[in-house]
Amino acid sequence: MKTRPLLAAATLGLLLPLLATAPALAAPAIPGYALGQPGLATAPYTLKDLASLRKTLLLGEDDVQALRQSKAILADQTEAVLDVWYGFVASTPELVAFFGHPVSGQPDPAYLAAVRRRFGQWILDTADARFDQPWLDYQHEIGLRHALAKKNRTDGVTSVPQVNFRYLPALTIPVTTTLKPFLAKKGASPAEVERMHAAWVKSVLLQTILWSQPYVRDGQF
Ligand code: HEM
Repeated sequence: MKTRPLLAAATLGLLLPLLATAPALAAPAIPGYALGQPGLATAPYTLKDLASLRKTLLLGEDDVQALRQSKAILADQTEAVLDVWYGFVASTPELVAFFGHPVSGQPDPAYLAAVRRRFGQWILDTADARFDQPWLDYQHEIGLRHALAKKNRTDGVTSVPQVNFRYLPALTIPVTTTLKPFLAKKGASPAEVERMHAAWVKSVLLQTILWSQPYVRDGQF
């Protein structure tokens, strides 16, 4: 019987062109995740604006290196990190309300779970940030998704219409404070952990600043 090898060869023949054209295969297929997708709108702020913001935040190449170092450390800890972050949100009524039904206030577990998958990818993307145009465009999209413009649309949920802006920069502190012990778990020196932590604080603050754009009156961002 020669059909099996023939079938295998035929299947491989069909798959190879697909594999060759597949994007980097780096990111798993996560519903709603859109970094690098061609359909994303161009951010209303430019790479030059980004460079000026990075300058103001003292986010230099040394920080980029520290973020890269954190990627390998965090790669197999993302679920544990998310458990801590989601635990914080779940135990803070002011925050879990943003995953709630607009009338009953009941948190929507499917909504929480869908966002969690993209949040996990965001951990790796933050460590791996290229600070290029696709990255900038996805920052714009994430901002819209927290704001009136687009909240709830990605997951098709019925929930409160926006995350109130004041909580976005505020969450930088619990996110980065609780990350620190995870950065220390893989044998990095205390000085390296400090460096990575500082880089994460700058990057998360930078991102929440970019996400603030849809909340700021026209021409004032
Ligand atoms: C440091 C601040 C924050 C970070 C790093 C962060 C991170 C993220 C990420 C990565 C996503 C998924 C984006 C995507 O669709 O790819 C997301 C969505 C979301 N976040 Fe945040 N977030 C922050 C602040 C907050 C706060 C304060 C709340 C309030 C509970 C919140 C509630 C939400 C909600 C409800 C969504 C889903 C929005 C939608 O409907 O698409 N976030 N966030």
